[in-house]
Amino acid sequence: MTEDLIIAPSILAADFSRIGEEVEAVDAAGADWIHLDVMDGHFVPNLTFGPPLIKALRPHSKKLFDTHLMVSNPDTLIGEYASAGSDIITVHVEACQHLDRTLSYIREIGCKAGVSLNPHTQIDCLQHVLDRLDLILVMTVNPGFGGQKFIENTFDKVAELKNLIINSGSSALIEIDGGVTEDNSKKLFELGANVLVAGSTVFNSKNPTNTISKLISG
Ligand code: DX5
Ligand code: ZN
Repeated sequence: MTEDLIIAPSILAADFSRIGEEVEAVDAAGADWIHLDVMDGHFVPNLTFGPPLIKALRPHSKKLFDTHLMVSNPDTLIGEYASAGSDIITVHVEACQHLDRTLSYIREIGCKAGVSLNPHTQIDCLQHVLDRLDLILVMTVNPGFGGQKFIENTFDKVAELKNLIINSGSSALIEIDGGVTEDNSKKLFELGANVLVAGSTVFNSKNPTNTISKLISG
């Protein structure tokens, strides 16, 4: 396919007892970005970590830190995620009272702004914030857990989103999150995906270097 496809392993599937080494290992294996899944036990039924862990991981990789906030009302802590070392901060449409304000704020504090769509979220809600966006994360599983099966009807949504981006002249990247494997990466790329998040596929692999290059080459 192309070297332009960005692979972002999610540390949710890493061994948390040796998380620094795990990040170093996927960095060395060819990861482009490190995907950091923050969950609050409220917006999603699971809890992970917050700014202190991101700050602790920052010295372990120079790769871009892609922070995915699956939290209700993210605004109060966005500054903390930025100062911990996040490069991109992505929020969920349904978690924000004032999405336009939140996205503008993320850019004001020097990060790239992303918005995430749950499997049921319509893409129409992006129309009036497209100029505030650097990235659109399409959830291809229901958020909260790694290792779930890819929801097949989200392929159509990726194609629809690509059309919206082309027709509006937006430069936002499309990121796919959940159930990405060597079997669906090619189709996702062909439909217009720019970034593939891969948790279990990369961290459960015996040869992450090989797996990352297979995700890229399809
Ligand atoms: C799910 C997370 C994903 C998850 C992906 O809520 O946003 O990033 O870790 O894991 P896999 O690749 O195992 O589906
Ligand atoms: Zn994620």
